[in-house]
Amino acid sequence: MSTRESVLDALVAAGGDGVSGQSLADRFGVSRVAISKHVAALQAQGYTIEAVTGRGYRLVATPSVSTPAGVQPLVRSPFWLRFEGGMETGSTNDDARALARSGAPEGTIVVVARQTAGRGRLGRSWLSPEGGAYLSAVLRPQVAPADVSTLTLALGVAVAKSFERFGARPRLKWPNDVLLETGKVAGILVEMAAEADRVEWLVAGIGANVLRPSAPAGVGPAYLSDAVGALAPAEVAAAVLDEVADAYAQWVATGFRAFAADYAERDALLGESVAVRDAAGSVKASGVATGVDIGGRLLVRAQDGTVTAVAAGEVTLRDSRDRN
Ligand code: BTN
Repeated sequence: MSTRESVLDALVAAGGDGVSGQSLADRFGVSRVAISKHVAALQAQGYTIEAVTGRGYRLVATPSVSTPAGVQPLVRSPFWLRFEGGMETGSTNDDARALARSGAPEGTIVVVARQTAGRGRLGRSWLSPEGGAYLSAVLRPQVAPADVSTLTLALGVAVAKSFERFGARPRLKWPNDVLLETGKVAGILVEMAAEADRVEWLVAGIGANVLRPSAPAGVGPAYLSDAVGALAPAEVAAAVLDEVADAYAQWVATGFRAFAADYAERDALLGESVAVRDAAGSVKASGVATGVDIGGRLLVRAQDGTVTAVAAGEVTLRDSRDRN
């Protein structure tokens, strides 16, 4: 972590009491002038930090939230054409679906600071308090519906790479979870409208837990800030969008092939003893996960050596005593 990030962390930890420049200087082994430069740089990044003579620094406002105004200026990729959203919505996937239906072009984004009805896979809800990054992209790939399943995995690689920019070491749990050591930090929900052989539109929704709300560490999901220190949800959303734009272009050109190595490097299930269940809870395969194939299917080797390629399902890790 850089000194600047450490200063920011210390300001976050100090809360309303603030912290003196001298104590920060002592703690990080730099001069007070260096601290004031770090504070100025943080202010330039959009952090509101009050400097009170004789009392030090106080972080007044949280970093920029993931709204179109916060995110768009940080996005480098020219792929994203139109930014919609704001502080709050029900679900960005629902909004993006409505936009797609009404003809919004590929490259349209809905991004918000919080959701009141965020949705996850299998009808689950996705808790979406302020401090996270919640976005959905309208895409119109010229592919068959059957080819879309690998996009979720390619997007997982993109999200992982965007977190790596901030120093995190995420791993991927097939098919759509992005994990940190402490738990799930992000999820991907791809939805589409298609004819038999042609995708009409596709909405790729991504939710990332960035800043921990007030719950104590160790409770609930994982947060990026626990791993790498405080960071702005808007910056995370922008990094995700830049990586997703690159990954999408690559996926359209080559399919999953180009992602196989990057996925395998981050595969959290590789070598693990797993059970895969369908929506009704019936076990479709159990054994050791040996990777994913070029069609994005999870490969599970049973005790008798037979390998099942699973196209869809929910994975649970089996007790280590069950390993085969
Ligand atoms: C999952 O892990 O089950 C997928 C979670 C996807 C959550 C994101 S948040 C942005 C977008 N809007 C939603 O309602 N869901 C996705």
